[in-house]
Amino acid sequence: MKPLQIALDGPAGAGKSTIAKTLAKKLGYVYIDTGAIYRAVTYRALNEHVGLEDGPALAAMIAEMDLRLVPSESGQRVFDGATEVTDLIRSSEVTNNVSFVARQPEVRDALMDLQRDLAKEGGIVMDGRDIGTHVLPGADLKVFMTATVEERARRRHDENVSKGLPSDLEQLQREIALRDKRDSEREVAPLRQADDAHYLDTTKLSIDGVVEAIERLMKQVV
Ligand code: C5P
Repeated sequence: MKPLQIALDGPAGAGKSTIAKTLAKKLGYVYIDTGAIYRAVTYRALNEHVGLEDGPALAAMIAEMDLRLVPSESGQRVFDGATEVTDLIRSSEVTNNVSFVARQPEVRDALMDLQRDLAKEGGIVMDGRDIGTHVLPGADLKVFMTATVEERARRRHDENVSKGLPSDLEQLQREIALRDKRDSEREVAPLRQADDAHYLDTTKLSIDGVVEAIERLMKQVV
């Protein structure tokens, strides 16, 4: 089978990155987490005090950045020039501000080529919000993964607890719902299922169950 482009979209905490990483490893594909790109831009904007809703200023800042996504054993490392920001971009400050940056049309335009370039050879599992609808409209397989907001918050809470991080389930649920609302209601490339994407509700599925479901869908790709 030729190396496919697999697009995995869905709301925050739907398990996309876990599934994309597991699937990529199993297939020998490269995992590309596009949320990390928006996070790295947000991290830098916060550090440099660039307005989070100032599209032109953010685009000028992006033009100065040397953003690199490097596949690694644990998934993907993220560099801004020589600085590794892989963990820094996961802070709650970045998480709670990234949707403001991501809804600026100038930001989305400035990041489009980078994402398409990363996917061009195929053999990739790319996760995001608009991969099936905008970044890779011709992807070989598109999956829109979701789960109830309660389940998504519970998974994130369990993950935090297992890492020994402080976590408040109700607060997580509120933050996830708010981020989904901002990502779904923005004017440019909102979070939405592509017409030709397969819908996968993972609320009651295990990780293996979701990976198997996607592998079954892959067999339908000719
Ligand atoms: O996937 P993750 O939750 O890390 O994404 C962080 C944020 O980046 C999302 O809430 C969304 O605002 C933005 N994003 C986006 N388009 C993508 C991927 C992420 O707008 N393709």
